[in-house]
Amino acid sequence: MCGIVGYVGNKTAQNVLLSGLKRLEYRGYDSAGIATLDEDKEPHIARSVGKISELEQVLSAKPHTGHLGIGHTRWATHGGVTVTNAHPHHVGNVFLVHNGIIENYKELKEQLSSYEFKSDTDTEVLAALIDSNYKDGASLKDAVAKALKEVRGTYGIAAFSPNEPDTIVVARLGSPLIIGLGKDETIIASDASALLGYTREAIYLNDGEIAVCNKDGAEVFNLNLKHLSPNPETIEGDVEQIQKGGYKHFLLKEIMEQATTLPNTLSGRVDAKNGTMHLGGPNLTTKEMRDVRHIVIVGCGTAYYAGLLASYYMEQLIPDITTEVVIASEYRYRSFHLPKNSLALIVSQSGETADTLACLREIKKRGIKTLGIVNVIGSTIAREVDGGTYVHAGPEISVASTKAFTAQVVTMLMFAGMIASYHGGNAELIHKFAKELSILPTEIEKCLNDHRAEMEQLAKKYAKYNDALYLGRDTAYPIALEGALKLKEISYIHAEGYASGELKHGPIALVDETFFEVFDILDNWLYDKSLGGLHEVRARGGKAIVLTNSKADIEADDIVRVDSKIELLMPILLNTLQQLFAYYVAVERGNDVDQPRNLAKSVTVE
Ligand code: F6R
Repeated sequence: MCGIVGYVGNKTAQNVLLSGLKRLEYRGYDSAGIATLDEDKEPHIARSVGKISELEQVLSAKPHTGHLGIGHTRWATHGGVTVTNAHPHHVGNVFLVHNGIIENYKELKEQLSSYEFKSDTDTEVLAALIDSNYKDGASLKDAVAKALKEVRGTYGIAAFSPNEPDTIVVARLGSPLIIGLGKDETIIASDASALLGYTREAIYLNDGEIAVCNKDGAEVFNLNLKHLSPNPETIEGDVEQIQKGGYKHFLLKEIMEQATTLPNTLSGRVDAKNGTMHLGGPNLTTKEMRDVRHIVIVGCGTAYYAGLLASYYMEQLIPDITTEVVIASEYRYRSFHLPKNSLALIVSQSGETADTLACLREIKKRGIKTLGIVNVIGSTIAREVDGGTYVHAGPEISVASTKAFTAQVVTMLMFAGMIASYHGGNAELIHKFAKELSILPTEIEKCLNDHRAEMEQLAKKYAKYNDALYLGRDTAYPIALEGALKLKEISYIHAEGYASGELKHGPIALVDETFFEVFDILDNWLYDKSLGGLHEVRARGGKAIVLTNSKADIEADDIVRVDSKIELLMPILLNTLQQLFAYYVAVERGNDVDQPRNLAKSVTVE
């Protein structure tokens, strides 16, 4: 969703801001803008609707030369997608960019009736509120702190004023802000990827904190202006990880690189020889691991489906624990009860998803221990959980989640393997999982290379369809859901995932020659039952694509057979094929693959 960048130093601010905003493009946005102060302390604003390239065009006509500025990519919440609603907003002496939502902006707007508002945004109201407090000798920091005390909602903000030409004031509540500390320069961003290449040292602002930044660094305060002394942290990753590396799209790069990122997920955590798994991050005592009886897994979208697949594995591995997988946006408002001796796994690629974060807080209120299964290092969820494990998939730039799904499933599986060994889990089965995990990266690589061209051809054949059903049974069911989600979000083909056994309970009524079906069929004890539905679909004119590791004869329109040593983890391999298929269908339909319409990479508002 929205992105913030700020710069104060010796470089031309415009260039740093534009390069930072480009790094944040992947989060999804519909307009962008920057505001800078020139050497004569004169402010300048440039804003545009559409891509950053539009903003660059505006700026090429009238470049900004100053060394201090703030920039923003906006994903519309209050007010339409217009230049007037784009950030930065300027009211009185204050220039402001804002991520999040000010819930009481209407009340505040009434109180601030002496101001003439130009936009429909809550941000302009916040700028006015800050300006109204920026008087009687108050500094910008004082004015921001005072204004924020009147605000209900969430925010990450960056503000400057020509009155204090060397300073940017930033603050956060529920929306991330990171302050990169460079040599004679300070770079501010809502996402660490914008800081890569400038500095590795950063202060991650916590909720309720405000910071005054200049080119020599930053001073941090709470909203009562008590001085705080946070320790700078190291930013991980490098610029290469956030570039396309020769691929046409980030999505294809992220699908293909699963074989190289997965070893980071597994590193030091799986011992295939002895058949053990161990994660250090959860930081659980032996007693806690023994006592746990219930595991609730919380996530949204792909993270939820990763949790669902992991729960099947948990049930196989741990004999005496119940698992429950919940959609965060529902769970946060349910009157849920968790038994004592529960553990909650909070699954999120971005670590910023508003609903997942809200669940984390609700679960903590009930005294249940929370563990993060998170990709983005230093993200809010990672900071608020009691313990947890990074999935180490590396930066995921494309909006559709692919390599993070695989890393999340694998991480939760290792967690299950670890817990299982304290619960009398079947040692042979744990060993088998450990062995499969250790060869998974090479098997994924083989699967992707063996079938990439085939999936591209299939995509060409099916790209003209408007409806699809994905069907799977047992551990192939969660990936049927995930396959349908991937297809719909990037190709805009209407796709639904179902448990194969549900076909006769309704969805089969839809099937005719205008539909195609993807059957995820595992060569296991449920193989025969998984074939059910295939014949019914074909008898009604539906086209059937089968993704399988079975070598048996199957009647289908198209069959993709995976030849692999992997058995238990076959759903993960089949899912990589679905990822390729969705990617190539989207390419064939000419879509914006990395930034599909209406979607944002991290959903920081409800
Ligand atoms: C689908 C997708 C979304 C996310 C969901 C949760 O490809 O990307 O469904 O999985 O928004 O996001 P995180 O994992 O960041 O909490």
